[in-house]
Amino acid sequence: MPGNRDDALVVFTPSGKRGRFPVGTPLLKCARNLGVDIDSVCGGRGLCGRCQVTIGEGEFAKHALESRKDHVSDWSAVETRYQAKKGMKQGRRLSCQARLMADAVIDVPAESQVHKQVVRKRAEVRNIELDPAIRLHYVEVQQPDMHNPTGDLERLLKALETQWGLSDLTADLRVLQGLQQALRASDWKVTAAVHRGQVLTTIWPGFRDKAYGLAIDIGSTTIAAHLCDLATGEVLASNGIMNPQIRFGEDLMSRVSYIMMNPGGDGEMTQAVREGINRLVQEICSEVGLTPQDVLNATFVGNPIMHHLLLGIDPTELGGAPFALTFNSGITLWAEQLGIDLAPDARVYVLPCIAGHVGADTAGVILSEQPHLRDETTLVVDVGTNAEIVLGNRQRLLACSSPTGPAFEGAQISGGQRAAPGAIERVRIDPETLAPRFKVIGCDHWSNEPGFTEEVRKIGVTGICGSGIIEALAEMYLAGIILPDGTVNGRKAAVSTRVFMEGRTFSYLLHEPANPEEPRIVITQNDIRAIQLAKAALFAGIRLLMERLGVERVDRIQLAGAFGSHIDVKYAMILGMIPDCDLDKVSSAGNAAGTGARIALLNQKARDEIERVVKQVEKVETAVEPSFQAHFVEAMAIPHKSLGYPCLSQVVDLPAPQTLAPLPSSDGEPPRRRRRRAS
Ligand code: FES
Repeated sequence: MPGNRDDALVVFTPSGKRGRFPVGTPLLKCARNLGVDIDSVCGGRGLCGRCQVTIGEGEFAKHALESRKDHVSDWSAVETRYQAKKGMKQGRRLSCQARLMADAVIDVPAESQVHKQVVRKRAEVRNIELDPAIRLHYVEVQQPDMHNPTGDLERLLKALETQWGLSDLTADLRVLQGLQQALRASDWKVTAAVHRGQVLTTIWPGFRDKAYGLAIDIGSTTIAAHLCDLATGEVLASNGIMNPQIRFGEDLMSRVSYIMMNPGGDGEMTQAVREGINRLVQEICSEVGLTPQDVLNATFVGNPIMHHLLLGIDPTELGGAPFALTFNSGITLWAEQLGIDLAPDARVYVLPCIAGHVGADTAGVILSEQPHLRDETTLVVDVGTNAEIVLGNRQRLLACSSPTGPAFEGAQISGGQRAAPGAIERVRIDPETLAPRFKVIGCDHWSNEPGFTEEVRKIGVTGICGSGIIEALAEMYLAGIILPDGTVNGRKAAVSTRVFMEGRTFSYLLHEPANPEEPRIVITQNDIRAIQLAKAALFAGIRLLMERLGVERVDRIQLAGAFGSHIDVKYAMILGMIPDCDLDKVSSAGNAAGTGARIALLNQKARDEIERVVKQVEKVETAVEPSFQAHFVEAMAIPHKSLGYPCLSQVVDLPAPQTLAPLPSSDGEPPRRRRRRAS
């Protein structure tokens, strides 16, 4: 071992932090002194294995030192015990045990860092910095002494302060109720769960290094949950159930009506959603061999009505103008207060609502998509029965909700249905013959491919879902079957019998089943009108926000929610649901509200961040905006009455008005179509 100095230089990577320490100092202590990010639950007792490091080997010109494995102390008995019990990767050492003996470069692998990054799948989004609200701390507490009469809690708090630097902690009665048994059951060695560095929430006898949390998105139709390991950020299981409140009404307004007409109806719905959540928690925990009592923390998002009902607040005021929220900050509670069965002292955090129509789910979407951290102007749209719209950048952020109705979800459409096996989800129409081909959920083949008939026989073609109807209409528009004002072009009846007259309007036959038991799938004029109304409401809301922000175009569009995940963004643009934008900058954000809940679960500062951002969001109430109606009327046209789509036109040949409805030529041949089709 080189050198005989009393101190040695240590450089930690990747942080580059360096300093000199007396020979024999544990590496973890050096790291703590230098502010290097290394995790620990056991406080340096060789129990948790969170503090693992690798010793650099070789000449490090950049740091002007030579590092060797023997520049730290020999493998200790504690490390040998840990290795035998839990195993360590080759070359790893426990930094709480290995002591600095000479100059060394010490690498802290990502999994040993406290604030490690949780990688998100989409490339354009920021990874989550792991900083959960619940942290575990192992402590050894002094035993009581007749000569120094102090309470067990006092000595526990003292131990947490001296061993972990945690001061001014408070404890709930439930912690006190189990404290004496826990301390005595484990020879005064316990693990404490501390919430946000302030509140003792659980005490376990002995050492414990696993904590779990749940991120829950309460939608009006479904409730989705992600079970996460709070130490790694890993999603251990995801699951969902139908929201049991559906029995009180399919959509939000019918649930509010139920409450208005049935005294105590809000209580029934609160109970229903809480029971549903408890069932879901039970299921998701048992999937990975855990119980709800292992869950120490949970976060919730939901629209304002779901938010109020979860909290046991009557949402009647949200059913009519001026749509007043009871409160619009986030709230931290004991799970027990919500009747949610988690660990007895589990804490839950419910994200803040933004406005009467823009809820904690949108707050989650903002946390996930971060428009407030970008220079570019971002439009985030979450389409459901209402569309929540967020527009802005790091300077300003605006939000509104637009009443799109359920047409995008397949309701109000003659052959419409929810996205489920048997539903048509993709549609293409030959612009010359007007013959369609389509894909059905649950089948791999297109309808014109060999194998489709065999495949679809088991499930049948049962209807058309939201993404299917959007594609059908956009393809009909590209093929000239629909005119820009939304009417079905009756002249196309001369080209194909698929365009036919029904009453006083024309319809398009999308699917004629071989089996007479199955429904014919026809796109009627009424279907087109329903989608036009929905898309005009959506676009008018977007336009209103663009007007308020003073922008004529947006730089980036994120489509959130189940609908946004399934829809082909190009078709949404062809129909004029969203404004023109470089298609490379338009993408699906998936379940962004749920992701926002997960971010708030894994990073406590994200909770402060969203509370701050929500206060700054400018809320726009579409119902009272005079220009909304004018925008709505203009947006009824496909794609829009007065706005061009230059970016979209570069990839799709949009029909020019004069070429839309040529008469069949005198010899009866269908008109030739020169335009490129969207692929
Ligand atoms: Fe727990 Fe080193 S700090 S094993």
